[in-house]
Amino acid sequence: MEANAVRSQVGVYYGSYLQLDSLLNCQQLESAKVGKPAHEEMLFIVIHQAYELWFKQIIHEIDSVREMMSHASPERYNGIIVNRLGRVTQIQKLLVEQINILETMTGLDFLEFRNLLVPASGFQSVQFRVIENKLGIIPDNRVQYQQHHYHTFFTESDRNRLADSEKETSLLSYVIKWLERNPFLNYEGYNFWESYKHAVDKILERDLERIRNNSNLTEDIKEQNYKEVHKNMDSFKTLFNEELYNERLEKFEVRLTYKALQSALFIYLYKDEPIFHTPFLILNLLTEVDELLGMWRYRHTMMVQRMIGVKIGTGGSSGYHYLRTTIGDRYKIFLDLFNLSSYLIPRNTLPALPKEVSAKMDFAWTM
Ligand code: HEM
Repeated sequence: MEANAVRSQVGVYYGSYLQLDSLLNCQQLESAKVGKPAHEEMLFIVIHQAYELWFKQIIHEIDSVREMMSHASPERYNGIIVNRLGRVTQIQKLLVEQINILETMTGLDFLEFRNLLVPASGFQSVQFRVIENKLGIIPDNRVQYQQHHYHTFFTESDRNRLADSEKETSLLSYVIKWLERNPFLNYEGYNFWESYKHAVDKILERDLERIRNNSNLTEDIKEQNYKEVHKNMDSFKTLFNEELYNERLEKFEVRLTYKALQSALFIYLYKDEPIFHTPFLILNLLTEVDELLGMWRYRHTMMVQRMIGVKIGTGGSSGYHYLRTTIGDRYKIFLDLFNLSSYLIPRNTLPALPKEVSAKMDFAWTM
């Protein structure tokens, strides 16, 4: 620090570089303005500002990942993408943890200044909405807020920013295009989908045979077990029927295209092949981003219930009841990646890759 202080006389100075004069002077307590400064309001402001700063960093990282993925061969950047998405998830973990600090303020303390905040609300965090949009949330999937489009509650310039973020190519769309590029789906006579379907058919047939030949089972239990296998078969039938799958895609029940889904499943099943190491990490991190967003929503909702019970929110919503409806699959962007696990089959039933294919997927340092 001493060396920096010397350097600051001729170069950059710590406080001016970070613009601390502005940063540390933008905590204006509403309670002080009405002559009754509330001790806890400082924490309330600082914590919201800290969130917004981290949201800014997350947007910076997501934009850089989107930019890399917009290239003709985005896989060249996979290592950097893993690093940046990993940074996003670390920040998200901190954001979930930060709720603990806010919870050192009690509901009674909050009442000292809560009424002064009406009608402002965290609902109006533009950056939070921009993150959702850039990741690829379906706008129509948003829970109706006081029977209005969510834009209604923002200023005109914020509305424009939101509209712009909705028009951009989302991270999800880039991921779909990248997955569709997987050259190994159909490679020199090898067809992943056929080979996988063959293995699944064999497993299901074997399951039926096991029930049929098990003399320890009563007819009733056999019937129940058959039902389970048939349920499993039905779920695979939708998977193997492209037309049915596309109908689900049109209804937004799934988000990945048929080809992208096949590619993701291929990567999940053969993730130990060297060429799939980083693609698998990317898919895993995207799932984590979604999971952590969901965890934040849940923690925030629980904190709100503790803080204000079932009172209406300062933004005018039903508060806790509204927030509860935002927890769940409708806000998951990479939901298909979560659900892929339904189609995983055990390693020992996985068809071996033809030699030419696995040789192409391999790499090693040659000495
Ligand atoms: C005492 C602390 C807090 C309380 C009591 C609270 C309460 C609420 C309530 C009741 C809502 C629903 C909208 C409304 O009617 O206002 C809401 C939404 C929201 N709050 Fe908070 N909040 C708190 C802290 C925070 C913090 C620290 C953040 C961080 C940025 C935040 C971000 C949000 C966001 C993004 C929404 C919109 C959620 C959605 O619509 O999916 N809140 N909050």
